[in-house]
Amino acid sequence: MSNNVVVLGSINVDTTYHVERFPQPGETISAVSKSSAPGGKGANQAVAAARSGAKTAFIGAVGSDKEGAYMREALENDNIDIHHITTDKLHGTGSAAITLDANGQNDIMVYGGANQAMTTDVLAGIDDILEGADFLISQFETPQEVTLEAFKQAKQHGVTTILNPAPAHKIIPELLHYTDVIAPNESECALLTGIEITDEDSMAKSADYFHEQGVKHLLITLGSKGVYYNTPAGQGLVPAFKVKAVDTTAAGDTFIGALSSQLQNDLSNVATALVYAQRASSLTVQQMGAMPSIPTNDEVEKALAEK
Ligand code: ATP
Ligand code: RIB
Repeated sequence: MSNNVVVLGSINVDTTYHVERFPQPGETISAVSKSSAPGGKGANQAVAAARSGAKTAFIGAVGSDKEGAYMREALENDNIDIHHITTDKLHGTGSAAITLDANGQNDIMVYGGANQAMTTDVLAGIDDILEGADFLISQFETPQEVTLEAFKQAKQHGVTTILNPAPAHKIIPELLHYTDVIAPNESECALLTGIEITDEDSMAKSADYFHEQGVKHLLITLGSKGVYYNTPAGQGLVPAFKVKAVDTTAAGDTFIGALSSQLQNDLSNVATALVYAQRASSLTVQQMGAMPSIPTNDEVEKALAEK
């Protein structure tokens, strides 16, 4: 399977502080160690798609700083087409400060910088990458107005749109009209629908909500519990792989990117593709960091063969 994937989204340099426990408000604690790596939801998803074998292009923005150059190089090293990454002269490259405790739990603070300053100007000339693309993916770390305009253009090219509404935020209602697949986690889903996710019945009700808004396909990621899917071809819960997680940063991003490399664009093979995507995420959570932890197709296939 060799899909053609376009990602519109954020680019961050992540700094992770490894701590025994999270500090209380007003408290100062010492970090055991500190590390830095490429990240950002958009960039992670693009890298996951590319490492899983998809031809991948990126639409985004960085600052005119050394972090921007570092991130362009990181994406290029994964063979991602970066000619639609623009340089913002007024804002710095996005960054994230991640606190990771001894149990593998994380807290993330994001500085939007060039990601959040992005306007629809970034979409100039994207017809060349939308033509022939299978999927356009976006998230909520860049302005929704830009995603809305990109999704409209994608629909004109017959491209299937995937929205990962993360981090949790209210949505511009019109965006749902141009969304084919919505892939939130449990809390993001609840924020958008007002329906608390407690069981499969509440997930089916959430699917009804999105179907009424014109979104055909719902995928709810449930962390170590797996993924719920509700599409015209069927619905159900696909369990996650049982592994020992050390750092779940980018689990959701790996899932979205790896999935996009395997899915038919009518989602007719969704159940099989979900197994591949979850195997990929199960490898990510066993490694430290965002982008460095995202597996290649060979690594995912090897793990699938081992089961
Ligand atoms: P994050 O914000 O941490 O990147 P998320 O909240 O967007 O993640 P999750 O639902 O936590 O997304 O995880 C996405 C997928 O990753 C899950 O559906 C599952 O397949 C896999 N996954 C996440 N955590 C674990 C875990 N502890 N063990 C095994 N698989 C996991
Ligand atoms: O989803 C993980 C990502 O969220 C991190 O790489 C960080 O940059 C934040 O955007």
